[in-house]
Amino acid sequence: MKIAVFPGDGIGAEVTREAVQVLEALQLPDLTMTEGDVGGVAYRKHGHPLPEATLDIARASDAILFGAVGDFDCDNLERHLRPEQAILGLRSALGLFANLRPAKMFAGLENLSGLKPEIASQIDLLIVRELNGDVYFGDKGMRTTETGEREGWDMMSYSESEVRRIAHTAFRAARTRNSRLTSVDKANVLETSQLWRDVIIEVSAEYPDVTLDHMYVDNAAMQLVKSPGQFDVVVTGNLFGDILSDQASMCVGSIGLLASASMGERQTDYGTFGLYEPIHGSAPDIAGQGKANPMATILSAAMMLRHSFGMEAEAARIESAVAKALADGIRGGDLGSSDGTAAIGAAVRERL
Ligand code: IPM
Ligand code: MG
Repeated sequence: MKIAVFPGDGIGAEVTREAVQVLEALQLPDLTMTEGDVGGVAYRKHGHPLPEATLDIARASDAILFGAVGDFDCDNLERHLRPEQAILGLRSALGLFANLRPAKMFAGLENLSGLKPEIASQIDLLIVRELNGDVYFGDKGMRTTETGEREGWDMMSYSESEVRRIAHTAFRAARTRNSRLTSVDKANVLETSQLWRDVIIEVSAEYPDVTLDHMYVDNAAMQLVKSPGQFDVVVTGNLFGDILSDQASMCVGSIGLLASASMGERQTDYGTFGLYEPIHGSAPDIAGQGKANPMATILSAAMMLRHSFGMEAEAARIESAVAKALADGIRGGDLGSSDGTAAIGAAVRERL
């Protein structure tokens, strides 16, 4: 089992270290981990946020554990050299088009959500976010208009095959849960979204057992805080999924708790190749202080064992250790307490 470990920038290194130690504590036979540079760290060392050597490590592995990228010092670089290009480049070079972002309330944290506890306690949803298309990967640029004004532009598009493959991922995911799927778009305004909706409806014919409904993204943002319990699986495009998944995290209580899996079609000896990362960013303001909550990254490692290595029992062991630590009152600064990164990691390992 070959795991590529890409810690990246800011708190990426701290949180990844704890997740690696949790994997080591499981003492899985035949597990090797190889580190690679990504993001601003990689730019400073090698002149590129996603060096060829890092891509080689990724291609030679069965799964990737990714920390975070983003560095204020790099914000003035040309866009193709910015840290974010590391994660965007990996997603696209490795064909990782399906991003699974589960959000579930942990028992005992209901009072820490921004929502009323009785509403927050209902949250158990999965956002399936398309990851290889949309306005993220369209042509973009800066130009000067006829009146001499500067104008920035980004092209939004989806092809039907891109929508179809993420639709299948989402319908299949719904089947493993409560068989309800909500497709989120902006079909009242955008052609991209009209095509999205048409294709989702076409694919739904193959899944008569899954109940499908459609929601405009503005309404979905509202419904997510009004009654999040109504959602089972949500499928949406790259941009809307980015925004709604951050919103879902605060409904659960903290962005320091949400894990994610990015999957494609490549099969390995063990299962499906994937990249696993917390949905939070590099948090440069607290980097290096040992304050960051590593739980999202630890939970990402659990998703890795489940989705790329077929190790459901080990994944569940990690998840219940995290849940137990939270129930025992172990909490980081993101949850209004003061447990540090290393202490949280150790607390999880003790409960494995
Ligand atoms: C995420 C992040 C990334 C995204 C950034 C770092 C490019 O916000 O994974 O949600 O926008 O996809
Ligand atoms: Mg995001």
